[in-house]
Amino acid sequence: MKEVTIAEIGNYVGQEVALNGWVYNIRSIGKIWFLIFRDGTGLLQCVVVKSEVDSDTFEMETKLTQESSVRVTGTVRAEPRAVGGFELGIKSIAIFQIAKDYPISPKEHGTAFLMDHRHLWIRSKKQHAILRIRHQVIKACRDFFDQNGFTLVDTPIFTANAVEGTTNLFAVDYFDRSAYLTQSGQLYGEAGAMAFGKIYCFGPTFRAEKSKTRRHLTEFWMVEPEIAFCDLDKDMDWAEKLVAYIVQWCLDHCGTELKTLERDISKLEKVKAPFPRITYAEAVEILTKNGVDFEFGNDFGGNDETIISEQFDCPVMVHRWPAEIKAFYMKRDAENDDLALGVDMLAPEGYGEIIGGGQREDDYDILVKRIEEAGLPLKPFQWYLDLRRYGSVPHAGFGLGIERTVAWISGIRHIRETIPFPRTIYRLEP
Ligand code: 4AD
Ligand code: MG
Repeated sequence: MKEVTIAEIGNYVGQEVALNGWVYNIRSIGKIWFLIFRDGTGLLQCVVVKSEVDSDTFEMETKLTQESSVRVTGTVRAEPRAVGGFELGIKSIAIFQIAKDYPISPKEHGTAFLMDHRHLWIRSKKQHAILRIRHQVIKACRDFFDQNGFTLVDTPIFTANAVEGTTNLFAVDYFDRSAYLTQSGQLYGEAGAMAFGKIYCFGPTFRAEKSKTRRHLTEFWMVEPEIAFCDLDKDMDWAEKLVAYIVQWCLDHCGTELKTLERDISKLEKVKAPFPRITYAEAVEILTKNGVDFEFGNDFGGNDETIISEQFDCPVMVHRWPAEIKAFYMKRDAENDDLALGVDMLAPEGYGEIIGGGQREDDYDILVKRIEEAGLPLKPFQWYLDLRRYGSVPHAGFGLGIERTVAWISGIRHIRETIPFPRTIYRLEP
């Protein structure tokens, strides 16, 4: 018998097929009962009619429990009223295992309980939809860079130096010395750009974030392009092209999931390049106009980002930041040495910063000075300084946080639901 999945069931109308999966729900109306069946690719209504099956099969209604694993066989029929538009007229059901007391029932559970059962929670409709969107966001990133001449350069996770400041570094024992879990692949990405022109790295990054917010994880995934012969303006061109591509890809390929999540897709449909670009000073003006008591020179908090982003339908790129609050590697504005040529992209609807990046300092002497000013030791940066010794060029790049992007596209308030197994200050299990 042909084994198929729910995703492809439409190709088998009128045929007898087998599917492997789990019991999602059971409903009975006397001489007929319905098994709502899931196989990881979707949900399928299976109809068990007393006069069409043997008595053992019909009696399974009382045996089968939520999340029991089964193999069903039957005939595929078009049924517009059923979830997905098809149903299976059951011929037989074979049991792999009967699940006892599955802890997640259709009733409401608190988030702490669900997070403790994350390994099971990801089977639920909504979580399943979010994680499928995550898959498509990641695919869109890779496709975008692959189609635009970028080479994938994997960067290490064990590192000897800090990239994004020393306050949130995770130190680990590394034989007779210590190492840090990487905060960003950027510095290695810069080496890659000097070797390949345009590169991207993509992997998990780590920050010992002590703040407990809905936007911070201690382990998150970041895709980071780095481009030789690129300035801040071109960097922003790449950033907006990437994000517009991801959104369009998800609109084209995640319709079912976005519907499950009741996402207002009219908001996503407005996301088309070019995106607005404003300076940090202009962003501060927006805050002041909206009655925020904001001190020029500070970084924006979550609420500030929300107010700024609410002025626009598209993501907004904020550039030219006070150098003091940005990383040591950022090039300064030729017109004003107090400003760093950095850019943050803020997602609409209050989802906050999804991209951070900018143009890099490419002068050897200035970079040495910046490392010293940041209070960082020079020795672990010798290899990085080599990039300014041997054929230094203007270059730029950025990092897109996958989880924040998924949260925005899915319309999910809290970032912890956008990664299969989130890591936060208080959570290392499951
Ligand atoms: O702005 P960040 O810190 O930039 C960098 O790391 C640069 N070195 C990237 C580069 O230029 N190659 O981080 C980039 C993005 C943020 O905009 C945000 O989306 C995400 O990474 N991010 C986090 N996501 C979840 N949890 C956290 N704790 C995050 N910190 C940053
Ligand atoms: Mg940032």
